[in-house]
Amino acid sequence: MTDQWWKQAVVYQIYPRSFADADSDGVGDLRGIIGHLDYLAGLGVDVLWLSPIYPSPQDDNGYDISDYQNVDPLFGSLETFDELLAGVHARGMKLVMDLVVNHSSDEHPWFVESRSSTDNPKRDWYWWRPARAGLEPGTPGAEPTNWGSAFGGPAWEYDEQTGAYYLHLFSKKQPDLNWENPEVRQAVYAMMRWWLDRGVDGFRMDVINMISKDPALPDGKLPTGRAYADGSASYIDGPRIHEFLHEMHGEVFQGRAGLLTVGEMPGVTVDEAIRYTDPAREEVDMVFQFDHVWADRGPDPWLLMPLQLTTLKAIFGRWQAGLADVGWNSLYWNNHDQPRVVSRFGDDSAYRVESAKMLGTVLHLHRGTPYVYQGEELGMTNAPFRSIEDFRDIEALGQYTDAVTKEGRSPEEVLTVLRARGRDNARTPMQWDASPQAGFTTGTPWLAVNPNHTEINAAAAVADPNSVYHHYRKLAELRHTEPAVVDGDFTMLLPNDERLYAFTRRLDQTELLVIGNFSAETVRAEIDDAAAWAAAELVLTNTAAPTDDLTLGPWQAVVYRRMLSR
Ligand code: GLC
Repeated sequence: MTDQWWKQAVVYQIYPRSFADADSDGVGDLRGIIGHLDYLAGLGVDVLWLSPIYPSPQDDNGYDISDYQNVDPLFGSLETFDELLAGVHARGMKLVMDLVVNHSSDEHPWFVESRSSTDNPKRDWYWWRPARAGLEPGTPGAEPTNWGSAFGGPAWEYDEQTGAYYLHLFSKKQPDLNWENPEVRQAVYAMMRWWLDRGVDGFRMDVINMISKDPALPDGKLPTGRAYADGSASYIDGPRIHEFLHEMHGEVFQGRAGLLTVGEMPGVTVDEAIRYTDPAREEVDMVFQFDHVWADRGPDPWLLMPLQLTTLKAIFGRWQAGLADVGWNSLYWNNHDQPRVVSRFGDDSAYRVESAKMLGTVLHLHRGTPYVYQGEELGMTNAPFRSIEDFRDIEALGQYTDAVTKEGRSPEEVLTVLRARGRDNARTPMQWDASPQAGFTTGTPWLAVNPNHTEINAAAAVADPNSVYHHYRKLAELRHTEPAVVDGDFTMLLPNDERLYAFTRRLDQTELLVIGNFSAETVRAEIDDAAAWAAAELVLTNTAAPTDDLTLGPWQAVVYRRMLSR
């Protein structure tokens, strides 16, 4: 196994709460995952990434951790975890854990101690600040900065016991850890080593580019019409971030082989990503950037903007070019925070199967490591949320409250956007079969199953050779068998075309041509060499083979291969 084995790997993300419920409490669990390992191995994925399974008050579905070295009874026990890990390894796959160390839960013993008194040894493990000068502590506007939290309300919570505020970039039950304190860093590294010693194969690092904050904590710019300012200039890719990640690498990963590390990095730039992923700098293997999932989002968060394909291509083109020589991309459409891609960038009605396959093809043929989010391989769609009562996500509920009560938006306007963008779209239970709760649970699911599970489900997809599932299986297989998919150069074609997404990949004498039609129209690809390409080997397509002049049908995708003479 080479050091950079993950270049050839496909990662599959499991959101345990919504994957499979073996004990009928309505929430997925580790035993449920164990029961579906053959399904995952059959898909041909190499790595499983588990969203958090640690003990947690579940304020943010486990992204608020109260014990980093255990399993929440909701999901199972350490023993069940070991059994899962052994089952994953026995099938030749790897397991990557979610690492959530920008913040802990407010119920973590570290924070319980920290808040207990100003002279507690752990006081400085979190960000405590006095009220704004001249203002009465605990009154509106007295927060140390004007920053908003990601989940609505201010980013500071007043704690009466010591008369001070603590910082929480997410919910008030997710206090930010103070990475300036070396004891915090050492405690985190020790915990990471403990999991690696247990046999896990790496970490997906939650909002890891936010752990270094400018200790001055200056006010942010307040956009007009918004209740709170954006403080991100003080903590995205902050002053000591590279130092911290390099230190972590030395303390945790040095001397261990076969691991995968991926940093979730909202707002990361290409230039920073080169630094984060340059192997010589020893920080992380790859990062999750957000530019492409923000491509259909304008300055007003409550306005839906249609996707411009040219914008999407410009973004991916920039990332592909930026990390061509140094560093590595991760590739994703979906995760537990994003709406379902077939509903977002495809057509989830008439061309659901075709567009889901086309989107998968285009993504997986880029240079980088592709991530599949549970249900994406079935072409699962967004859910029909009727009212705000149907949502469970703390982000949706918090943002709804701010928008409707503090910013005077109409509930309908806000709901329209939440229906399209809300994170619960990704979190509806995995659709295993056509039975009443989609085979997810025999109890009452914590979030309603999508009624379309009668048609869209794993049992049907596995049985149908033309399903989205088998197309994703072929994409994984192609990555494993065609080196040009892994290592080939990337060249974007037709950058100004609003319907076709086209590019080539080239490694030595092998050249691949990939075209995806992002429309329901029939479109001819006007590229150089079209006739020669049309006569080349058609490696993969999602509908009937195209005609001999590269004319693509609605939502069609094609991958051609040819050998160049020297
Ligand atoms: C990341 C997670 C998201 C979570 C947030 C706070 O963005 O993916 O689900 O809410 O961090 O931990």
